[in-house]
Amino acid sequence: MSQDDLVSNYTVSIQYDKRLYKQDIAGSVAHVKMLGRQGIIANTDAQAIISGLEDIQTEIESGVFVWQPKLEDIHMNIEARLHEKIGEVAGKLHTARSRNDQVATDVSMYLKLATKDVLNSIRGLQKALVLKAEDNIDVIMPGYTHVQRAQPVLFAHHMLAYYEMLERDADRFQFTYDQADVMHLGSGAIAGTPYPIDRAVTKEELGFRKISSNSMDSVSNRDFLLDFHSASAICGMHMSRLAEDLVLWSSTEFGFIRIADEYTTGSSMMPQKRNPDFAEIARGKTGRVYGNLLSLLTTMKGLPLTYNRDLQEDKEPLFDTIDTLLPTLNVMGQMISTVELLPDQMRKAAEDSGSLATDIADYLVMKGVPFRKAHGIVSCMSAYCESQRVQLHDLPLEKYLEFSEVFESDVLDISIDSSIAARDIPGGTAPKRVQQALSDAKMALGLKA
Ligand code: ARG
Repeated sequence: MSQDDLVSNYTVSIQYDKRLYKQDIAGSVAHVKMLGRQGIIANTDAQAIISGLEDIQTEIESGVFVWQPKLEDIHMNIEARLHEKIGEVAGKLHTARSRNDQVATDVSMYLKLATKDVLNSIRGLQKALVLKAEDNIDVIMPGYTHVQRAQPVLFAHHMLAYYEMLERDADRFQFTYDQADVMHLGSGAIAGTPYPIDRAVTKEELGFRKISSNSMDSVSNRDFLLDFHSASAICGMHMSRLAEDLVLWSSTEFGFIRIADEYTTGSSMMPQKRNPDFAEIARGKTGRVYGNLLSLLTTMKGLPLTYNRDLQEDKEPLFDTIDTLLPTLNVMGQMISTVELLPDQMRKAAEDSGSLATDIADYLVMKGVPFRKAHGIVSCMSAYCESQRVQLHDLPLEKYLEFSEVFESDVLDISIDSSIAARDIPGGTAPKRVQQALSDAKMALGLKA
């Protein structure tokens, strides 16, 4: 590319903002209809413009539209083509409008659709989690804190933890949607417009919930995009944590799950490997989603009111986050649906550990020992077991009694099943609580009549 080309291409955005063509045309059609209705332009002119725009949409969708970088962006490309098609009257389209309120409107319309797609994908992943939980409702595994075996839990309880995280994500995306559901058109370049436009009519036509209240805020508002980016960053973080659980569980060290072949790849060198590449890529992609949030925050931070051309830099991060988050949610859903559990290994890991220590301390507490003291007793027992390389549940009653005479033979009934069943409070891992949570989730997802 020559130096001249580099310079003349510098401000061009058509290569990416052409993604907004539908919103741009819909926005123009609604605007022109309103101009005609208000008598600001003649109805015949409005009609000519509308049919010209409709033809342009067909040209774009059939691939014959010729994009012209020298016209910079989607708005100018469409308007120039309209001029070629219908002549001078095309110039009336931009009456009572600026590219500033136009682009804010286009982007918010685009974002509303993208947010709906994200919400659908979130629901899809939630369904996959809930169905996997239901199919494996009896599976017990060790729950972890600090990547140390902590207490036995139901696998379903672990899956439903992600369901909850995604519920909060859905709330955040719904908030994003509502923030984007405000129409900026009619704000003009900065101060509004002297023509007798009717913003309520345009708003109805474009399906917005309300119109913006301050033209200066309106043309420089990209908060709804930031809401989307921050909701995406948090959702991406959730995907990354789920991916990390899958990576760990599928390792030989854990051996809890087998990820379906389609979501693993072999190593080019080590024939035994089944690398969890899809989960790793999902984890890795979270970085760029964070980056896009930071990118827009940084673009915005020094901008005096109102519109500044820097705002054109809002689009690539937006498209990139959409193109990253949607497939990540979908891939995670498919991966969860096809993952195979190894319940024996999971149960063994839950048993083969001191994960009943808390239950033994709780047993003492029930018999009147203060919790701190009970904790001390069981710590000593755990240290003893470690030195003898035995498990707590291998100790005979006589051994228990050496640590505290409060113990009775029923202490030997403590098992991972009794441990789980005991956590019978709202939010706990007891089977009947998890069953309830599962059926609530199914109801919320419309998986049950
Ligand atoms: N391509 C521009 C953008 O995305 C459109 C708005 C241009 N407005 C202007 N005053 N130059 O922000």
